[in-house]
Amino acid sequence: MVEPRIFASPGALYQHAVNVFAHATADAVHQRGRCVVALSGGETPRPLFGLLARQSDIAWCDTHLFWADERCVPPEDRSSNYGAAKETLLDRIAIPIGNVHRTRGELRPLDAADACEVELRRFLGPTGRIDLVYLGLGIDGHTASLFPQHQALEESVRWMLPVHASAMPAWRITATLPLLNAARHVVFLVVGRNKGSALRRVLDGEPLPAARVRPTHGTLDWLVDGSACSR
Ligand code: 6PG
Repeated sequence: MVEPRIFASPGALYQHAVNVFAHATADAVHQRGRCVVALSGGETPRPLFGLLARQSDIAWCDTHLFWADERCVPPEDRSSNYGAAKETLLDRIAIPIGNVHRTRGELRPLDAADACEVELRRFLGPTGRIDLVYLGLGIDGHTASLFPQHQALEESVRWMLPVHASAMPAWRITATLPLLNAARHVVFLVVGRNKGSALRRVLDGEPLPAARVRPTHGTLDWLVDGSACSR
């Protein structure tokens, strides 16, 4: 059952999202010596990245960044999720280059997915437990690059898959539900009136891709701003 936490403004939502990041990373580093985070793309997380870039209490030297999904484009392409994070966050923080595990969107889709899968399995081990995942909500109820009715939703083994979407850029690499649902903490960021319908459908229990992210042994937070709750 999704229970959204509603914020009066996007600013309040993003500040809370920063606090979640700071606490989750500190907790993971204290318990396991490192924190593994998966970022999502699109526009919603950009303000979060800008705020994170100004946080002084995050142990970036012990924090590793992956992406919940990436478009199959070179990193300098304006639609690259890594590129957006580089512009708003990575270029402004002292994070070791080895801590940034970019999905190599410039490769052929299957090669990019395979490379990411290998890196994740090498890094996480068989449990595949990412500490903190930020996800967005598409107006059709997709999340990461898991789109409604897509075969990738039924994947039960792989952690990363190439998918061909109707949205452009068409080819993307996406985390699968097995990987997302193994996470310790999943945080959805939902901002804007245009997300109201998809959010309503999720809250009504429709089995949309975003609604199928339910961490098996982790926490699930839906941070929603008031405008997205207008319905
Ligand atoms: C992507 C994202 C995608 C995004 C939603 C919401 O690569 O596009 O990972 O899942 O989170 O489409 O996008 P906005 O934040 O731009 O509304």
